[in-house]
Amino acid sequence: MSLLEIKNLHARINDTDILHGIDLTIGRGEVHAIMGPNGSGKSTLSYVLSGRDGYEVTGGDILLDGKSVLEMEADERGRAGMFLAFQYPVELPGVGGMAFLRAAVNARLREAGKDEVDQLEFVKMVRAEAKGLGIKDDMLKRPVNVGFSGGEKKRYEILQMALLKPSLAILDETDSGLDVDALKIVSEGVNLLRSAERGMLVITHYQRLLNHIVPDQVHILAGGRIVKSGDKTLALEVEENGYAGLGDAA
Ligand SMILES: Nc1ncnc2c1ncn2[C@@H]1O[C@H](COP(=O)(O)OP(=O)(O)OP(=O)(O)O)[C@@H](O)[C@H]1O
Ligand SMILES: [Mg+2]
Repeated sequence: MSLLEIKNLHARINDTDILHGIDLTIGRGEVHAIMGPNGSGKSTLSYVLSGRDGYEVTGGDILLDGKSVLEMEADERGRAGMFLAFQYPVELPGVGGMAFLRAAVNARLREAGKDEVDQLEFVKMVRAEAKGLGIKDDMLKRPVNVGFSGGEKKRYEILQMALLKPSLAILDETDSGLDVDALKIVSEGVNLLRSAERGMLVITHYQRLLNHIVPDQVHILAGGRIVKSGDKTLALEVEENGYAGLGDAA
């Protein structure tokens, strides 16, 4: 059984059809990349997968571990092992970073029938992960994402992912706004989380991110459809020739 199976997925927002039949299967241990022009539906796909409000599935199915998630709310999908790193992370004023992270981690542990972590243990855990990602202690004490720079928000998301240990991680354009060093730290964070049990879907515009996070497969999304799939060389092809010529919708 595959980790994620997207079958003929059609979806709309505000009465506008955006996804027109997406088929995509991600196995455990695999990293897939999605590239595609602006407005092709990449972020929409990630929102539909994560169960965000307002996105309506009008056809097809999404199976996680063989089970349809369509009837599950976003938080249920999260507890079931799905993690979405947003293209534009939200700020949560008044929500302390540590409490936020610990609540999320404990919800996931409860779902898995495991013991929750106590505060002391958790602080140690977070400090260890944060250090590897170049996140300073001071950032952990601040409200979630408030006043964080673009690159800091992205690092913080990788930290969340490292703590939550999702079975399926979806990253939307983690390279946007990252300087060269941050790009490296984030890619290393992602690579450390690659494992035989976990699948990842990385949405990006830039081939250079895929030099650091080498994908097993690359898909080109255009006009709400996957118009071409291939191995990592497809990303190089796009870098060289653009999206022209990759199917009618591109
Ligand atoms: N709330 C909405 N109402 C109407 N149309 C929307 C809404 N959100 C997105 N769209 C439209 O859906 C299409 C796909 O948008 P989406 O954000 O998924 O593209 P994308 O591939 O992520 O683009 P980018 O590369 O710029 O991030 C666009 O034409 C967009 O205008
Ligand atoms: Mg987008």
